[in-house]
Amino acid sequence: MNETASANTTPGTAPVPGPEQKHNTPIHNRNYSQAIKQSPEFMSFQVDFAVCLKELRGYFHTIIAENFKSPDFLLEKTNSLLRPGQTTIDFFDMLHNLRSVDDSIYVHSLNVALIARMIGKWLKLNAEDLETLTIAGLLHDIGKSLIPDDLLNKQGRLTDEEYDLLCQHAKLGYDLLKPLPLDSRIKKAALMHHERCDGSGYPEKSTTDDIDDFAHIIAIADVYDAMTAARTYRAPLSPFQVIAEFEKDGLQKYKPKYILTFWNILLPRTRTIMYCSATDVPQTSFC
Ligand SMILES: [Fe+2]
Repeated sequence: MNETASANTTPGTAPVPGPEQKHNTPIHNRNYSQAIKQSPEFMSFQVDFAVCLKELRGYFHTIIAENFKSPDFLLEKTNSLLRPGQTTIDFFDMLHNLRSVDDSIYVHSLNVALIARMIGKWLKLNAEDLETLTIAGLLHDIGKSLIPDDLLNKQGRLTDEEYDLLCQHAKLGYDLLKPLPLDSRIKKAALMHHERCDGSGYPEKSTTDDIDDFAHIIAIADVYDAMTAARTYRAPLSPFQVIAEFEKDGLQKYKPKYILTFWNILLPRTRTIMYCSATDVPQTSFC
């Protein structure tokens, strides 16, 4: 993700600053967001992201049809989105500017896989664990593909019954993955990514030590992505607001080792991570 300053400039558009420049230069958020969106790197990322989504959608259907195949090809495509030197633009800036594209299960799953992989890199996981963690992110919400679309897309508050049904996606996903020749941590991430350290999660109300490490990491990526997505009832939260939310009870709900790592990496970036939702909601400036 690091190249020369000249590679950041697209004719006819505002220049996209490199990572070092960004943190020191006040830039109007909207101009910056537009510059990213008009850059060849972002357009290329968007195309690669769409290809990945198509593959992921097909892979979910393959598993549901009990026609298992190795997720290696999917992993390769996912990893290529984070390949060093792929782009000069910060990964999180890319992700946030993709927000207007779609917010399906597949977009969310791919986002969670990429964010979890970033967290795994910061934790210095070995290459094999990074691959497994990425697949865990891709498949963590596969159970949602067994939940009726009208419930998944319902606007407004869910009834208690609807909420209970939605919560079943964790167990449904686990049941789908359980018989497959996949690392057990991938299956546990599907089952446990809504568990919380203080026992306030679901489906088992497990506490810290009973929750698998990969599920702890996927939980943070999952919540971060959900909060920074637009919802029918609220605008997307900025990364800065997400961190403020995490600060309220993050150390009770998430494993301190992982949430503190995530904060430490994300905090310096909140000055420049931009938003551009489908409704072009008011931007919050951290510059
Ligand atoms: Fe989930």
